[in-house]
Amino acid sequence: MDTNALATGLSVASAFEGRHAAIMATFRKRLLTVTGELGLDQDQMDQIVAQAGQVLDDVTASLRTGQPEINEVRIGLASQAGPKPAPRAVIHPVDSLRAANELIEPVLDAVIETAAGLPDATCIFRTANQALQRSVLTRIRWSSESYLAFLLDRVRQAQMAERRRIARELHDRVGGPTSVVNRNLQLAKRYAEVDLNRLQEKVEVAYEASVQSMDALRGVATDLRLESEFNNLEQALRGFVSAMTDGSAVVDLAISGDESWVPAEALAELFLVVREALRNAFHHAGASTIVSHIDIAPHEVRAWVGDDGQGFDPASGRSVHGHGLTSMRERIELLGGKLVVQTAPGRGTHIEIFVPLSRKT
Ligand SMILES: Nc1ncnc2c1ncn2[C@@H]1O[C@H](COP(=O)(O)OP(=O)(O)O)[C@@H](O)[C@H]1O
Ligand SMILES: [Mg+2]
Repeated sequence: MDTNALATGLSVASAFEGRHAAIMATFRKRLLTVTGELGLDQDQMDQIVAQAGQVLDDVTASLRTGQPEINEVRIGLASQAGPKPAPRAVIHPVDSLRAANELIEPVLDAVIETAAGLPDATCIFRTANQALQRSVLTRIRWSSESYLAFLLDRVRQAQMAERRRIARELHDRVGGPTSVVNRNLQLAKRYAEVDLNRLQEKVEVAYEASVQSMDALRGVATDLRLESEFNNLEQALRGFVSAMTDGSAVVDLAISGDESWVPAEALAELFLVVREALRNAFHHAGASTIVSHIDIAPHEVRAWVGDDGQGFDPASGRSVHGHGLTSMRERIELLGGKLVVQTAPGRGTHIEIFVPLSRKT
């Protein structure tokens, strides 16, 4: 770069830098008009605005040297000395693309205004345009990779939680009665020659417990089979309800709409979530009525699971007990949806689920 070009580069860069605040103001305004559609939270907005600021820095640095300069360390692609950057909000690749769309125009407008009248305006525009494209595309690539890693991690966590649940079910539902069988047979042996009445009593208790343990084992096996053979939501839920029903609660299960409107993975997740809500109603509520309605529309699924049982304090439900409620919420949020639990001691439990179908995760 000769001295003249260097001087031009420096002055164009500083003129462009003087427009940063105005570009960011326009970008924020444009972003806000689409935020409703994007449904971004504050952390995600902050992250997008920070990334946009870095894109402007890349364009400025490129105008200074006359060639595209992308700072990969700031994106997180290159190795970095010093402390690791704070974890970033996870942004769906579609949202990244739409945010980029709102940034490109104000940046190019500002470049055109900065270069207007200068002899090498075309060259300046080309450099800025190249830098802008590379900076934005590299960021989108990075954010898509991060999003994928985040999804894979969630899937792994969900699998682990499911394994822990099966282990707990086996331990609590099968292990409990099995140890009663064992203990009572031990006692029966002890009474065998001294007290026939007590012997008979212990054998009866052991027999009852063995029936319970077999039922529990069958229940756990049915759960696993339904999960592995899952291909129809209604069938799988009806199978689950009939395996769980012991006659103490009336169950009203209704599904409307066409299951083929829902992507297969989302349907399988919905099954796991509704099943956990039903399982909780059977296990914890002591309800006389359990209602579950699922409405499938081409653009969304809405589901309700409610019971008239004892309810619970949602704060203690989350902190003290299992992972069921947490993983239900996570699964639905991963589908871009929302899950709301309404409950209080003595007031039953009502779970409302909403999943949009327009966007595939
Ligand atoms: N429908 C319900 N009725 C009453 N209590 C419930 C209901 N659903 C959940 N709970 C309470 O919330 C707790 C947490 O539920 P969950 O996260 O599914 O874990 P787990 O079922 O393994 O205990 C339960 O242990 C129970 O105390
Ligand atoms: Mg549970």
